[in-house]
Amino acid sequence: MSQAVPILSPLAGSTPSGVPPRGQPLLETRGITKRYGQVEALRGADFSVYPGEVVALLGDNGAGKSTLVKVITGTITPDEGEVYFEGKAVQMRSPLDARDLGIETVFQDLALVPDMDPAGNLFLGREVLRPGLMGRLGMLDRKAMHERTVEAFGRLGVKIQDTQAKVIGMSGGQRQGVAIARAMVWASKMVLMDEPTAALGVVQARNVNDLILRVKDSGVAVVLVSHNMQHVFEVADRIEILRLGKRVAQFHKAQTSIEEVVLAMTGLGAGVAA
Ligand SMILES: Nc1ncnc2c1ncn2[C@@H]1O[C@H](COP(=O)(O)OP(=O)(O)O)[C@@H](O)[C@H]1O
Ligand SMILES: [Mg+2]
Repeated sequence: MSQAVPILSPLAGSTPSGVPPRGQPLLETRGITKRYGQVEALRGADFSVYPGEVVALLGDNGAGKSTLVKVITGTITPDEGEVYFEGKAVQMRSPLDARDLGIETVFQDLALVPDMDPAGNLFLGREVLRPGLMGRLGMLDRKAMHERTVEAFGRLGVKIQDTQAKVIGMSGGQRQGVAIARAMVWASKMVLMDEPTAALGVVQARNVNDLILRVKDSGVAVVLVSHNMQHVFEVADRIEILRLGKRVAQFHKAQTSIEEVVLAMTGLGAGVAA
């Protein structure tokens, strides 16, 4: 059985577990703390994502995964700690800041506008205006946005027949497809997905895995939060584990097992601080 990489040991450089140097992380959090009244959702959380990798962020319910995702995407501001992007400290004051860095998110609740069609959702806040005077008057180029949506669905393998139907009438899997496609279309560096397969059946979950691999192929890093170990082990390159608001272990997928990861999540396995 392999060893978890010790806490505080950066993956860059040689480590006792023989992890090869990885260079500079694309994104790194250091010592993130977030309190909600008496509850400490994060207690000095470290986390790292390397360019173009799929990293799974795992932990038991309440470990702080969603809170960390929200910090990274500028949805909430931490009480303490820093976020580094491409080696530089960054202040994420809103999701727009994350967006500007090329970071997109598929939130647990998807955050779609039910009354709009897929194109409306894909281009929400980034609408394409018509050329010329019409555009200057604020007229939207719905045709262009629809065409680009259909093209994106084709490229990403999202199977939605009626691309002009409202999202409200779509199945869970189709909605998921729209939310993931939106993130993928705009992300130039990184996509975060918080429990993307929680509400999906087996076939749909497999489709999400295919989408994740397509994103990775395009050179964009993916952060995957999931309870589904099978799912994680199919797509992740690396696994980082949060427990009680702190990173307690990191593994390379090829050097670990579901059993070892579950032990680390529950606090009973190797590599876990007492
Ligand atoms: N807005 C909030 N208000 C109060 N407590 C919160 C809030 N968000 C998260 N928490 C608490 O912080 C802890 C971590 O939550 P969360 O990040 O959602 O965990 P996970 O996604 O790993 O299940 C939990 O105890 C949760 O109840
Ligand atoms: Mg969560």
